[in-house]
Amino acid sequence: MIPDSFKRDLLNRVDIVDIIQRHVQLKKAGANFSACCPFHNEKSPSFTVSPSKQFYHCFGCGAHGDAIGFLMEYSGLGYIEAIKELAAGAGMTLPDFEPRFGKKKEEGGPDLYDIMQRATQYYREQLKGSPRAIEYLKGRGLSGQVAAHFGIGYAPDGWQNLQAVFPKYDDQSLKDAGLVIENDAGKRYDRFRDRIMFPIVNQRGFVVGFGGRVIGAGEPKYLNSPETPLFEKGRELYGLPQARQAIRDSGRVLVVEGYMDVVALAQHGVEYAVATLGTATTPTHVQKLLRQADEIVFSFDGDAAGRKAAWHALEVSLPATLDHKAIRFLFLPEGEDPDTYVRANGKQAFEDLVGRAEPLSAYLLAQLRARVDTNTMEGRSRLVHEAKPILKSVAAPALQLQLLKQVADIAGMTQQEVERLCDLRRSQPGPWQRPAPPKVERAAVKSFELRLLECVLVKPALASELSGEILHGENLEAKALLALGEFVRSNPDLSSEVMLIDHFRGSPFETLLKQVRSELMVLGLTPEQAEGEFRDALPRLERQRIHEQLNDLQRKDKAGALGPADAGLMNALTKRLAALDQRPSGNRSVL
Ligand code: CTP
Ligand code: MN
Repeated sequence: MIPDSFKRDLLNRVDIVDIIQRHVQLKKAGANFSACCPFHNEKSPSFTVSPSKQFYHCFGCGAHGDAIGFLMEYSGLGYIEAIKELAAGAGMTLPDFEPRFGKKKEEGGPDLYDIMQRATQYYREQLKGSPRAIEYLKGRGLSGQVAAHFGIGYAPDGWQNLQAVFPKYDDQSLKDAGLVIENDAGKRYDRFRDRIMFPIVNQRGFVVGFGGRVIGAGEPKYLNSPETPLFEKGRELYGLPQARQAIRDSGRVLVVEGYMDVVALAQHGVEYAVATLGTATTPTHVQKLLRQADEIVFSFDGDAAGRKAAWHALEVSLPATLDHKAIRFLFLPEGEDPDTYVRANGKQAFEDLVGRAEPLSAYLLAQLRARVDTNTMEGRSRLVHEAKPILKSVAAPALQLQLLKQVADIAGMTQQEVERLCDLRRSQPGPWQRPAPPKVERAAVKSFELRLLECVLVKPALASELSGEILHGENLEAKALLALGEFVRSNPDLSSEVMLIDHFRGSPFETLLKQVRSELMVLGLTPEQAEGEFRDALPRLERQRIHEQLNDLQRKDKAGALGPADAGLMNALTKRLAALDQRPSGNRSVL
């Protein structure tokens, strides 16, 4: 394991603001930095990064952590990989440690990752000894360097070659790893025979599966590892670890259909391509890629199958859309795939095509339009009907609004009409998105209570000065203030507003507090300003309360209903009011 001391040193050495700034545009907000949260969809920033505490926190979705946690969550890295990446950036060398990953291995049995690694090694060595396999790869335009970069190997012909690497050929783990197959008679043999082997490497850098291609003609053309404890096709993308740097540099990831496409593109200097593994694009794929790139370009063959796959990719992408990220679709000329195209036309021509790829919105609208006859009422009605599930699943709010306007335009209706027909008032977030908290309706002019709340969230200690005398507690803000006062009084050493918000998670005040906190991100109030503001607002609130009470009493008086106790109260209130007026007024309000 990585020693704690190393982790501490590392976190001391790096600056979380630096790390996050590389992926998310941060704005200075007082002592902190803020941004719209990269982990859920929102319009106002509730994601905050604290340089002094060296952590990030989202008041909208609760995402929270240090620099290591950010890289894990944002880039989809494993713990060790995130530490490695941070260490590399900080010029620190990782101490030797024993990796202990994933599945519990059986007592005494070998680790599945280890098995895959040894198999990869074996296949690579076998490639060196097979002129036929080497010839095949050369014939497809691959250099030895690129083949090595992707760890490409060769599984020789024969039934039990792996016995050479795994003397315990009948070990259960070989079957679990998907490397051997057992027939009904219980006889075992190698799954991959006489095939070019493409190792599938996960984000942590471990081989989790293989794709094996026949040399020349033969069926099936590609044979893939089955799903194993290590390998889930819907999660992995071929070439992602190899492409990561290029994705970061270009801000773009290209999703292609085949192993050879990825490898051939890399051979020609297009290094930001990845492939789905003989499966349709999944929401996990899209989500994973959007975390690492600003733009996804899906590339599909120009045939019917390609168009079908493209529409499916569009459907799974909609719930993952973000207004600051782009998704586009590239359709290659019929009969071409990225491999053949880049080999025939070169990098520049291919990248020109990528540059002209169709934006998701254009592709979506063109497809919708093609499905109906917009010259008839029925056709336009059907358009709205077909658009409904699509519009509803668009997560990016600005994109959704624009699509809505376009659909309304094409349908010859108003935006409101389509909005109502499509039931769009509250779009449902996708299942993998944490929903943003609902907004609390509030008056445009900030109440004193609200201003006090803002101050208390910046400097929690202030809450201890709040009492029920001033806060009569009819509204939510006043009730929240009283509850905060009580909590802070019983927890005097409370240091951070995060703890405060955490404490009230699940209470009736949760949404209000989070909303106030995100407003504060924009306001950027320092603790000193908050204190000044608090000292200004508190007496004003008290004055307001006294005036209200005096008004009531005067009304009673006019009606001749003033009792003896009331007279005493009126007297006391008038005196208190005079005392308050004597006090110098606080700092000018900054809120
Ligand atoms: N595929 C598969 N099983 C098959 C055929 C294809 O898993 N029997 C997957 C592979 O991931 C393959 C991708 O689908 O890379 C695309 O298949 P295809 O277009 O048929 O092959 P190409 O990638 O063009 O392969 P090549 O260029 O090597 O002929
Ligand atoms: Mn091909």
